[in-house]
Amino acid sequence: MTTPVRALPREKISRPPLSEAEACTLVIFGATGDLTRRKLIPALYELQCLGGMSIRCEIIGTGRTPLTDEQFRGRLRETLAESKDAIDMNDPRWRGFEQRLHYITGDPNDAEFYPRLAADLDARRRAGGNANRLFYIATPSALARPIIEGLGAAGLAKNDAGWARIVIEKPFGRDLKSGQELNRVVSDVFAEEAIFRIDHYLGKETVQNVLVFRFGNSMLEPVWNRNYIDYVEITAAESLGVESRAAFYEQTGALRDMVTNHLLQLLTLIAMEPPVSLDADALRDQKVQLLSAMHPMTVDEVKQRTVLGQYGVGTVAGKPVPGYRDEPGVNAHSDTETYAAIDFRIDNWRWEGVPFFVRTGKRLSSQRSEVVVRFKRTPQALFSRAPEKDVEPNQITLRIQPDEGISIAFAAKRPGDELRSIGVEADFSYAESFDGKLPSAYATLLLDVMQGDSTRFTRSDEVDAEWRIITPIEEALAQLPATEFPNYAAGSDGPAEANALVGRCGHHWRPIAPPRDGTQK
Ligand code: BG6
Repeated sequence: MTTPVRALPREKISRPPLSEAEACTLVIFGATGDLTRRKLIPALYELQCLGGMSIRCEIIGTGRTPLTDEQFRGRLRETLAESKDAIDMNDPRWRGFEQRLHYITGDPNDAEFYPRLAADLDARRRAGGNANRLFYIATPSALARPIIEGLGAAGLAKNDAGWARIVIEKPFGRDLKSGQELNRVVSDVFAEEAIFRIDHYLGKETVQNVLVFRFGNSMLEPVWNRNYIDYVEITAAESLGVESRAAFYEQTGALRDMVTNHLLQLLTLIAMEPPVSLDADALRDQKVQLLSAMHPMTVDEVKQRTVLGQYGVGTVAGKPVPGYRDEPGVNAHSDTETYAAIDFRIDNWRWEGVPFFVRTGKRLSSQRSEVVVRFKRTPQALFSRAPEKDVEPNQITLRIQPDEGISIAFAAKRPGDELRSIGVEADFSYAESFDGKLPSAYATLLLDVMQGDSTRFTRSDEVDAEWRIITPIEEALAQLPATEFPNYAAGSDGPAEANALVGRCGHHWRPIAPPRDGTQK
C-alpha cells in the first residue's frame, strides 16, 4: 500500500515573458500535413501570444495541393476548431496571426519550384519583408533530400542579408546508411550551426527537467549507478491509434517512430555523465558518449531482448476500436509494429548489468510517458515479519506526461507500537507548484531555432549513434521468424511477451493505466 505524502508547493511561479526572437520568414514544406496543422501552427501562435515571436514574422506554407492563401487559412481554421485546446478564432491576436499565413503551391520533387520560391521570398523582402529565412521540412523523410538540394541549387541556403536555417523532422533517414547520407546532403548545403534536427521530446519541460533533477541535486549522484539502481523503465504509451497517418506509419513503425529518437533521448538524459557546462556541444558530447556505450545487438540478443507488437480490435476508454490492419490506409496484412519493448544495456562502469527497459505503443490502455528508476532492496528486511512482505524498494518516477511531476516512494514507520514499515510517496506536481500551462514542446523549440540555439537539437553524430543502435535491431528482426500479428488487444498494456522480457530479470512493468483508487500517481 502506498499513502501519498504531498510536498507542499512553496509558491506559485509564473512563467517569465519570453524574449522576442529576430523576425524571419518561415517556409513550411508539408504545410497541408498533420504535423503542420496539429503542432506547428498552434505552436507558432502560442509563441506569438507569449511574446517570443515577432508580429513581423511571415509564415509560408507549401505543398502539392493547389490552394490560395484563404483556402489554406480556412483548412487550418477547421482543424484548430476541432482540437482539444481550440483557439479562439475571434481573438484579435489570431486574426492578426492569420493574415501573416500564406501559401505557395509547389511539388518538392520539382526542381522548377525552388527558383519560384526564391523569387517570391526576394519580392517579399524588397517590399519591406524579413531578411532572415527559416525552412521547415515537415514532409515524409523521403522528401528531405530533394528539398535540401532544391534550396541549395536556388541559392536559398546562403543569405547575405540575414540568416538561413533549416529544421528537419525525425526520423532522419530510415537506417544508419540513409541517415548518414541525409546528413551528408544537408551538410553540403547548410553549415552545421544552421541545421536543426528536431526531436520534440527535447522541448518538453519535463524532459529538460531530467537534467535539472539529476545535476541540480547533489543527493542523487552517489546512488545513480549500478551499485544502487536495480533497473530503469522508460515508457511512452499512447491510447490513440495511427489516426490519419497510416501512409507515414506503415513505412515507419514504432521502432523508427519513437524508439530511435524520443526514447533513446530520454534514456541518454537519464544515464549520461554530467556535462561540464550547458553549452550545446558539451551536452551533446556526453550524449554521444553514452550512446556509443550501447553496443549494437547481435541476432541472438535481439531475439532475447526485443518484443514487437501490433494492436488488434479492442476497447479504449469504453469505446470499441478497430485493429491496426483495419485502420483506413493500412495494408490488411501489414506487419508494421505498433508496439516495441526492448531491454537495453549500457556497457560502462556506471551502468554495467543494469537493464534499461524501454517500451512504447499505440492503442494502449492509457496515455502515459514516464521514467521509473527502481533502487535495490535494503540488504535486510528489518521492519517486516517476512522479507517478502517488506515494502517495495525505493523508486523515483519522473512523470513526463500527463500529470507532469516527480514522485519518490520510500518506507516510513507505520503508526503503532511495533516498528513496522509502510510504503509512502512524496510527490511534486507541476500543476500544483506552478501557475499556467506548460509551454508546448514545439513552441520552445521553434523559439530556439529563431534564436539560433541548438542545445535542444540532435547533432549529426548523435543521429548516427542512434541509428547504430537501432539498425542492427531492424536487420536482426528481418532474419528472425515474424511475430504473429496482431498480438495485443487495443486498450491493453501490450503483448504478453513483453512481461516475459522483464520477468526474466525478476521484474514487472508498472501498469500503464493508473489504478482507480488513486494509490498510484
Ligand atoms: C511523434 C510520433 O514523434 O510523437 C507520433 O511520430 C507520436 O507517432 C508522437 O504520437 C507522440 O508525441 P507526444 O508529444 O504526444 O508524446
